[in-house]
Amino acid sequence: MTRLYCGLLFYLVLLGFSGGCQVAISPSSLVVRYGGSASSTCRSLVPIDGMGWESPVGAVGMEGGVTELNWTVKELREWTVTPQCFINKKDGEQCMKELSVLAFKMPDSVALVEDDSGPKYVNKSYSFACHIKNVAPVKNLTVKWFKGEKLLKETTLHEDHEGQEGPQNRTVKIESVFSPPDDGSEYRCEAGLDFTPDLPIQSQSVLMAVHYPPDHDHSEIEVLVLEGDTKLNCTVNGNPPPDYAWTLSGAQEKIENKPVLAVKQAGDYICTASNKLGSSNKHFKVQSRSSGTFWTIIIVGVVVAVLLIVSYGVWKWKAGPNSII
Ligand SMILES: *[C@@H]1O[C@H](CO)[C@@H](O)[C@H](O)[C@H]1NC(C)=O
Ligand SMILES: *[C@@H]1O[C@H](CO)[C@@H](O)[C@H](O)[C@H]1NC(C)=O
Ligand SMILES: *[C@@H]1O[C@H](CO)[C@@H](O)[C@H](O)[C@H]1NC(C)=O
Ligand SMILES: *[C@@H]1O[C@H](CO)[C@@H](O)[C@H](O)[C@H]1NC(C)=O
Ligand SMILES: *[C@@H]1O[C@H](CO)[C@@H](O)[C@H](O)[C@H]1NC(C)=O
Repeated sequence: MTRLYCGLLFYLVLLGFSGGCQVAISPSSLVVRYGGSASSTCRSLVPIDGMGWESPVGAVGMEGGVTELNWTVKELREWTVTPQCFINKKDGEQCMKELSVLAFKMPDSVALVEDDSGPKYVNKSYSFACHIKNVAPVKNLTVKWFKGEKLLKETTLHEDHEGQEGPQNRTVKIESVFSPPDDGSEYRCEAGLDFTPDLPIQSQSVLMAVHYPPDHDHSEIEVLVLEGDTKLNCTVNGNPPPDYAWTLSGAQEKIENKPVLAVKQAGDYICTASNKLGSSNKHFKVQSRSSGTFWTIIIVGVVVAVLLIVSYGVWKWKAGPNSII
C-alpha cells in the first residue's frame, strides 16, 4: 500500500516537471503562413492567481482574475517560435506548457531544367532537375514529377539540419528513359508543403521530342489479290518521320516514295521505311485474280468429269450386263 502511494506520488511529481501543467491550449499547434496572423487560447483547468504567455513575439504579462488568455500575433515574422502559457496556482506553484508554431513559405519559383534539351533517344537515360527557390520549412518539402497527368515519382525531403531556418533553395533530380509513345508528352515537376492548405507550385511544362526508328511490328508477308484499286499501306511511326521506298522483285529501280502504293500488277513488293536512326521492311505478295480464276476452272472441270464417269458407270450397272450401252 505504502509502495503504491509512493509510486503515485512519484508519478505526480514527474507529471509536474514534464509539462503536465493543467492548462488546455487550443489549437495545440499552429501552422501559419509567414507574415500571416496567428492565435491560440490557453485555458486553466485549476484555480489560479494569474496567467500569462512567455514568447519573443506576442507575449502577455501576468494577468490576474482570468481563466483564459490568448496568444495573438498579427503578422508572424519568425520561422519557429514556441510560446509558453504559464499559470500561477493558488498554492504558489507555477507551471507552463508550450504551443508549437511553425511558419511556412511556399516556393517563389519551381523550374524544370533539362541536362540535355535536345531530342531524346529511346533506351538512353536522361537527367532532369527541379529547382525550387525560397521555400520553408525545407524538411517537409514534397516534390512530384508528372508526365501529362500521370505521377512518375514523389520525393519528400527529410533533412533536419539545425541552423537552416528560413527559406532555402533545393534541387531534386530524376532520371528518365523514354520509349516511342512518350514522343510529344509534357513533363513537369511541382513542389508543395503537404501540411499546408496551399496548393503546390508547378514548374513550366517541357515538351519531349523522342526520336526512334520506324519498326513494322508484324514482319510476316501480307498476301493480297489484285483488285481494281489495290493499295499497299506501309505507313509506320518513326521520328523523324520515315522516308519510303518501294521495289518490285525482279525490277531494280525504285517505283514510289510514298507510304501507300496503288498497284496494277501482281508481284512481290517490298517497302522500306527509314529515318536517320534505322529502317524497317514490309513485304507484300500481290496475286492476280486471273490466276485464281484459272485454277477454279481446272478444279470445276475435273469435278464435272469425275461426276460424269461415275454416273455413267452406275447407269450401265443398273441397265444389266445384256444391255447394248
Ligand atoms: C481569444 O481567441 C478566441 C478564438 O480566436 C476568440 O473567440 C476570443 O474572443 C479571444 N479572446 C480575447 C479576449 O480576445
Ligand atoms: C530498346 O530496348 C528494348 C528492350 O530492351 C528493345 O526491344 C528495343 O529494340 C530497343 N530499341 C532501340 C531503338 O534500341
Ligand atoms: C515535417 O517533417 C518532420 C521531419 O521529417 C516530421 O517529423 C513531421 O512530422 C513533418 N510534419 C508534417 C506536418 O508533415
Ligand atoms: C536562393 O537562390 C537565390 C537566387 O538564385 C539567391 O538569391 C538566394 O540567396 C538563395 N538562397 C539561399 C538560402 O541560398
Ligand atoms: C495506312 O495505315 C495507317 C495506319 O497504319 C492509317 O492511319 C492510314 O489511314 C492508312 N492509309 C490508307 C490509305 O489506308
